[in-house]
Amino acid sequence: MKKIGILSSGGDCSGMNATIRSAVRTAIRMDIEVVGFRKGYLGLMKGDCFPLDSKAVSGILHRGGTFLQSARSPEFRTPEGQQKAVAKLKELGVEGLVILGGDGSLAGALALHNLGFPVIGIPASIDNDIPFTDMALGVDTALNNIIYAVDCIKDTASSHARAFVIEVMGRNSGYLASVSAIASGAEYALVPEREFDLTEICQQLRARYEEGRDNAIIILAEGVGSGQTIADSIKDAIGFETRVTVLGHYQRGGAPTVFDRLLGSRFGKNAVELLISGQQGLMVGLSCNSILATPLDDVIKGEKRPQDEVLRLAEVLGV
Ligand code: ADP
Ligand code: F6P
Repeated sequence: MKKIGILSSGGDCSGMNATIRSAVRTAIRMDIEVVGFRKGYLGLMKGDCFPLDSKAVSGILHRGGTFLQSARSPEFRTPEGQQKAVAKLKELGVEGLVILGGDGSLAGALALHNLGFPVIGIPASIDNDIPFTDMALGVDTALNNIIYAVDCIKDTASSHARAFVIEVMGRNSGYLASVSAIASGAEYALVPEREFDLTEICQQLRARYEEGRDNAIIILAEGVGSGQTIADSIKDAIGFETRVTVLGHYQRGGAPTVFDRLLGSRFGKNAVELLISGQQGLMVGLSCNSILATPLDDVIKGEKRPQDEVLRLAEVLGV
């Protein structure tokens, strides 16, 4: 292999730049040329790429987002779109591809592999819903962002004796909500993976209010529904005045934590080494603090990460 490509696709996350930097520098040390495709599969189908050398990836390690940019492309979901991408790769002389993204992007990577093109996937999504990796890239930074926001909100909630419903991202996964509730000392985490009884929650919040407690924090996973709807249905029953904060895309950006810088650097290096050694159709993942490769086929067919242990911990701690 003489020339490889790299792209970031789907929802961006902090740590993507650290990953790209590491992948490029690993390839360069092995005398392999690298090109970066802009805007994920959209740029891939158009052949929109540029050469990446060591200098091109300097000064990006500490920045959130992805300097290659990201996108979602309905066209790439079609066999025609995928064949167009493979034809472009051949035309450009690109012999292998490293793909960063969430479960959708990794399904796209599998499609390229099934067309006989060498790919290695890197799990990158704040949702932490990708099988065969303990943590996906960007999760730790998103959690730290959430915790910072919840601590701030708690201050103002206490001053006004208010309850806050704080809506966090995660698509259908409640991981961000459960872990941030545990780590911020929130009263409740409402997640799609666990049933809850709003009447019971209202009674407990009312008791808390009558005890003279000065705030209550409910962290809601977006997969459950809207924060406003939950707030509207509890506000008259709990005593506390109620407010809603939707954290939104704030969660996805910002300087990556040390954890994500290191994880991205490890993922990038390992992905390139696998690709260059002739392995393909794999995803690198974190397993018991080691980097492990799993066939993309198993990743895509696999169960979403069970968060049973986190849910049990939340239960024990009364969250
Ligand atoms: P994420 O990668 O963050 O989960 P998406 O689910 O939106 O984000 O997927 C990103 C892109 O990956 C899509 O816009 C599409 O181009 C491609 N993709 C998603 N699912 C598939 C699939 N089943 N087959 C081929 N490509 C897919
Ligand atoms: O998959 C990552 C994610 O941030 C989800 O948590 C969220 O539901 C979605 O992407 C938001 O997508 P968009 O950036 O297209 O609004």
